[in-house]
Amino acid sequence: MLTSRQRGYHITATVRSHEKIDAILKTHPSWKNNIDFTVVADFTTEEPFDDIFHNTTKPFDYVIHTASPLRFQVNDIRKEMIEPAEMGTTKILRAAQKYGGSSLKRFVLLGSAVAVLNSFEDMTKEGKPYTERDWNPVTTEQAVERKDPVLGYNVSKTRAEADAWELMKSNKPTFDLAVINPDIIIGPMIHPISGPRSINQTNQFAIASFIDGTHKDIEGLTFPFYHFVDVRDVARSHVDALTNPAASGQRILLIAGLISPQLVVNIIRENFPQLRERVPEGNPSQILPPGIHPTGWDMRVSIDILAKGTNEKRWNYIDLKQSVIDTVNSMLEHRVI
Ligand SMILES: NC(=O)c1ccc[n+]([C@@H]2O[C@H](COP(=O)([O-])OP(=O)(O)OC[C@H]3O[C@@H](n4cnc5c(N)ncnc54)[C@H](OP(=O)(O)O)[C@@H]3O)[C@@H](O)[C@H]2O)c1
Repeated sequence: MLTSRQRGYHITATVRSHEKIDAILKTHPSWKNNIDFTVVADFTTEEPFDDIFHNTTKPFDYVIHTASPLRFQVNDIRKEMIEPAEMGTTKILRAAQKYGGSSLKRFVLLGSAVAVLNSFEDMTKEGKPYTERDWNPVTTEQAVERKDPVLGYNVSKTRAEADAWELMKSNKPTFDLAVINPDIIIGPMIHPISGPRSINQTNQFAIASFIDGTHKDIEGLTFPFYHFVDVRDVARSHVDALTNPAASGQRILLIAGLISPQLVVNIIRENFPQLRERVPEGNPSQILPPGIHPTGWDMRVSIDILAKGTNEKRWNYIDLKQSVIDTVNSMLEHRVI
């Protein structure tokens, strides 16, 4: 896989502080030559992205927007999750429309499968597979009333993506939009790591929590969702989507396969004998928790679009076994488990 730098793009990346820039460059010294970093401390402030468009020496050809609140320990679901997600998306999209100029061809938005699936899905029976046409019906009021941060996150991603499509429709900018909708993202970590607390939320709950003593047993343990994709496929899909004509105006589902607590512990126990004692065994043949039958995904349209974005015209996902093995190896290398 070629990274965006290897494909010859010159990248301007936003981070929230100068300390973050230093930490990233310390972890990846070679990035200094290819990436300009710029600080957007908080995208909920007034016009947080305008200066980036004003100050760039070369106008941008593409924009990728990925940042969105993903912390579940919040006091105010509306103010800390939903509103910031919407603001981040709409503010960068508006800035792109106002100042992007005629060179700007495409805006790629990192959405989520939670904007597609139904948060109130009946997990006791398998429903009709989700497609790109589905939208999560969950509302802000439901998330706030139930004080449920997972629902709040689902609303935040659904609202932010809906806002983006709405702005495209009403403002008709010269560039187009492509949205990538991944389910649970796991995979090896390349961000600066300074201890176990640096493990990102989804790698923590889906993998590290089975090794670090959080779960002594997996009986009765459920996940909020049961499909995953490796972070390297997420990255590749975004870069491919910049120039793939088939991605224009599309929602692209990004789902590699099933994930469950049992599948994860099976892979760790089989492939890391040195960790076996620390990882609960569960019931190796009971892949999903009893009574759980998650709805699947109809991936035909998305796979076709993703394939058209590759040189080989073929899209292959990293499978769960490879993804878990590489993630655990990354955690061992960083000495965080
Ligand atoms: N992880 C998954 O399973 C998954 C699945 C589907 C989609 N996604 C999407 O993937 C993207 C990245 O998520 P992640 O898993 O990598 O989580 P993450 O590490 O928490 O990334 C979220 C990023 O957004 C930044 N951010 C949050 N609020 C901000 C604000 N007000 N102003 C500026 N920056 C802000 C965070 O900065 P700080 O960390 O400094 O606060 C962080 O860098 C998100 O859009 C998420 O919805 C994730």
